[in-house]
Amino acid sequence: MDKVRIALIGAGNIGKCHLERYKKDTRFEVAAICDFNELTLNETADIYGIEKRYTDIDEMLSSEKLDAADVCVWNCNHAKCSIKALNAGLHVFCEKPMAYSVAEAEAMKEAAEKNNRILMIGFVMRFSNESTIAKDFIDNGYLGEIYYSKATYLRRHGNPCGWFSDKSRSGGGPVLDLGVHVIDHTRYLMGNPKPVSVYATTFDKLKNRPHIKTKSGWMPKGATTQDLCDVEDMATALIRYDNGAVTLLETSFSLNTQPSIQKEIYGTKGGMSLEGGLKIYSEMNDYLVDITPVDLNLLINGTEPFEAEIKHFGDCVLSGTKCMANADDGIVVMKILEAIYKSAKTGHEVIID
Ligand SMILES: NC(=O)c1ccc[n+]([C@@H]2O[C@H](COP(=O)([O-])OP(=O)(O)OC[C@H]3O[C@@H](n4cnc5c(N)ncnc54)[C@H](O)[C@@H]3O)[C@@H](O)[C@H]2O)c1
Repeated sequence: MDKVRIALIGAGNIGKCHLERYKKDTRFEVAAICDFNELTLNETADIYGIEKRYTDIDEMLSSEKLDAADVCVWNCNHAKCSIKALNAGLHVFCEKPMAYSVAEAEAMKEAAEKNNRILMIGFVMRFSNESTIAKDFIDNGYLGEIYYSKATYLRRHGNPCGWFSDKSRSGGGPVLDLGVHVIDHTRYLMGNPKPVSVYATTFDKLKNRPHIKTKSGWMPKGATTQDLCDVEDMATALIRYDNGAVTLLETSFSLNTQPSIQKEIYGTKGGMSLEGGLKIYSEMNDYLVDITPVDLNLLINGTEPFEAEIKHFGDCVLSGTKCMANADDGIVVMKILEAIYKSAKTGHEVIID
């Protein structure tokens, strides 16, 4: 195989973002597109000139000759669509969070193994230049023993509403939508330790801020701040790993704060922060020094994260490259997410096995 015939399932915002990247990676041919919303389906298919259009995934899978599927649907449908595609013999790239529950995520992995197909999860933060270089420093021992990290993803008026604030379709709020990214990324940079427990709190004080006169960001088509909102609007959690390391999570859709995304990793020899330019806090000649790697884009081909992520999926399918965001990573993160909600509900630390 020298070309991957891929189908996009879910033609909304992130689906379009992926289609832009497939245009650039000529090893992919977007052979079909599926969305059960006919209007969205046709709008997106028209923009990208995709002829084969389906409102039903089963019809698409039985009619088209495909190698892979890109699953960009609501969280509640990730497992259903991914498992159907895997059982049809396709490799699958599924957006984050992996699924609606740990049980669903495990069923997805089982389907991938049964069919001997790749199942990659959309942990896009792993693919930034900053991440690649941070990992290089970490793997070469520049931070020493890593024992603490901070995972921050805070929005001020950023509840996307629509299906995002409807728990039956999203599974949860910022924990599942935003926290998932920074939890996965800090854990990845820390060497993928095994989580052992979570102590968390969630709040639903501000909801989707329907009275605010400015528009909330990141809203899917048709969404409004008057939509049903039964998800949390802010969460904080302490995640403990089996090597003794701890991650502090803060994430919100709605919070009276300065919005920020940050990943900070702390070790015995140095610390680092990734957003706003990679910075390393270390010691040299018995002085405290800050180190700022320069020309990051020149060092790693200058690709942006979504492009690098899709290129990696292509490498996995075409060249057998080991997947660096696989089903096991997705399941571990789902266990953390589920434990956050359980801990917030019970008020106790939740043990993860
Ligand atoms: N990696 C990232 O940074 C990132 C960013 C945004 C969204 N996402 C993820 O991508 C997914 C989609 O988010 P979005 O913002 O594109 O939402 P969206 O609402 O813009 O698009 C989702 C589309 O999926 C369609 N859909 C839902 N279930 C379907 C099914 N069973 N069959 C066919 N079509 C179906 C809907 O009609 C909708 O058009 C979510 O899981 C979200 O968490 C990831």
